Amino acid sequence: MVLPLTSSSRFRLIGSLFLCALLLILGISSGETYADEPVPLVKVLVAYHSLSGNTERMAEAVVEGVKSVPGTEALLRRVGKVTAEDLFSADAVVVGSPVYWSNMSGEVKTFFDNWQFKFGVFPEFKMKNKIGAAFATGGQVSSGKEVTMLTILAAMLGNQMIVVSGGGAFGASATTEGDSPGIDNKELADAKELGRRVAEVAVLMQRGSSH
Ligand SMILES: Cc1cc2nc3c(=O)[nH]c(=O)nc-3n(C[C@H](O)[C@H](O)[C@H](O)COP(=O)(O)O)c2cc1C
Repeated sequence: MVLPLTSSSRFRLIGSLFLCALLLILGISSGETYADEPVPLVKVLVAYHSLSGNTERMAEAVVEGVKSVPGTEALLRRVGKVTAEDLFSADAVVVGSPVYWSNMSGEVKTFFDNWQFKFGVFPEFKMKNKIGAAFATGGQVSSGKEVTMLTILAAMLGNQMIVVSGGGAFGASATTEGDSPGIDNKELADAKELGRRVAEVAVLMQRGSSH
């Protein structure tokens, strides 16, 4: 049975319909209906130099760690092969170097110098607010791994990047000669942990900047 509507209840019904339509329009304009739109993947560039393969093994483990975080993708590149597109499209950059004379290798230093010579990062600070991190391998204990990581982080800080650690106080590192040849499982786990931390922070940063 359909009851006839009085004029006041008809007025209330029209009012409610109007309110629903208004809320729907406000919802659309505030972006709420876009919540299901796919969020772009967070990109992590892992750039390294390696002659005898140790730093490369650590780099691969960093990539593994990145991939363990949903919503991210990793790009593994030798420092000499990094393009402007690789660098500028990355949300985070993790750089790895062998220790050469207690510091980063010349090839890694050249990579950073090329941020200006090839890619012209200054004076706009084109790397500003990207996440940065470091890893290193060195033949001997206490022979430059921490200095190497810190000088990598210093180059990033000079570019106004946001540096993070993981796997160790300044990043992940491995001793590769003498009593501790090659890369062991603990060192690989540290590198993976660094990749995971970088990816997690980069995801947080993306979420924060999309509001
Ligand atoms: C020119 C040169 C200098 C090096 N200087 C150091 C050093 O100062 N401290 C150290 O612990 N290892 C030093 N090493 C050893 C490398 O850092 C170590 O073998 C590293 O794991 C090599 O990395 P890769 O296998 O990725 O090339 C040096 C090696 C070379 C070739």
